[in-house]
Amino acid sequence: MGLLEELTEVEQQGRQELTAVTDLAALAAWKSAYLGKSGAVTRLSRGLGGLPAADRPEAGKRVNALRNTLETAYAEAEARLKVMAQEAELAAERIDVTLPGRQPSVGHLHLTNQMLRKIIAIFAEIGFQVWESREVELDDYNFGLLNFPLDHPARDMQDTFYVDMPPGAPPVVLRTHTSPGQIHAMRRYAPATLRVLLPGKCYRNEQVTARSEMMFHQFEFLAVGRHITLGDLKGTLDFFAKRMYGPETTTRLRPSYFPFTEPSAEMDVSCYLCRQKGCRVCKYSGWLEIGGCGMVHPNVLRNGGYDPTVFSGFAGGFGIERPALIKYGIDDIRWFNSGDLRFIEQFG
Ligand code: DAH
Repeated sequence: MGLLEELTEVEQQGRQELTAVTDLAALAAWKSAYLGKSGAVTRLSRGLGGLPAADRPEAGKRVNALRNTLETAYAEAEARLKVMAQEAELAAERIDVTLPGRQPSVGHLHLTNQMLRKIIAIFAEIGFQVWESREVELDDYNFGLLNFPLDHPARDMQDTFYVDMPPGAPPVVLRTHTSPGQIHAMRRYAPATLRVLLPGKCYRNEQVTARSEMMFHQFEFLAVGRHITLGDLKGTLDFFAKRMYGPETTTRLRPSYFPFTEPSAEMDVSCYLCRQKGCRVCKYSGWLEIGGCGMVHPNVLRNGGYDPTVFSGFAGGFGIERPALIKYGIDDIRWFNSGDLRFIEQFG
């Protein structure tokens, strides 16, 4: 085969092989096969020496032209492969921004705390500040200073956990209600007027059932001032009930007895489940019992540091779990502290 035919063949074959090259490694192999030191073009230019002198310049030009052609083809192929590699990389990293995102799992407040915060926010609107009082309490604050006379049967109203104390130490209890916080708050502020909300845990040594736990939450409200009347208590309760249970809610007070209030009352709200048409939850009465309240007893005001001839006040104590049971139709109070996520996550 003459040099010229060989040139044509090398060019054709080189171009053809180049179209089959699909990665940079194959491209490098192609380059050394055609343009390398012992590649086809080098071999052809070495062959020039064997040509008659007259043919050499023309043949030399053709070899150079072939080298240029193949180098250009190589550069194009290299650019094409680089673009392809880049595209492949981008395709591998492609994300579908229209896919729904993965939801990070975030916690939320426990139902009890949600209720408490709502109550705190409602009372904050009418100027009540939160006062956190101790859970481990002197017996005297839990009972005596709240006008429970020693050995009075009223103490039996609440079954109490007593803390083991060294002999001679004053008796200490787990508070059975949030009311002892009233004494702490009054002693802190007297003789200034005060409006406090006392939320927290309470403990009673009771049989645990679907309806009662030995640890539960209450909140207590207390207002002390110069001309506070039963009307202020009723107005406060109405405000709270409407905010908590809806604007159509009404309240009523029923006479009751607590040692630390006089007069004392139970507060009911109109049943928001049946709108007072009568249902199983309100036992067809149209009313739901919310908690106790009353005008602070003069002895309690005095124990708090106020002169009961000058100051008066109202107070009340409501449970947290019971109203939540009613509101959400929860069948067992023990769910609250079960730690069972199937329960907790329903209130996220
Ligand atoms: N401490 C009472 C209880 O746990 C509730 C209560 C009733 C609180 C009347 C009050 C009140 O402040 O005035 O049953």
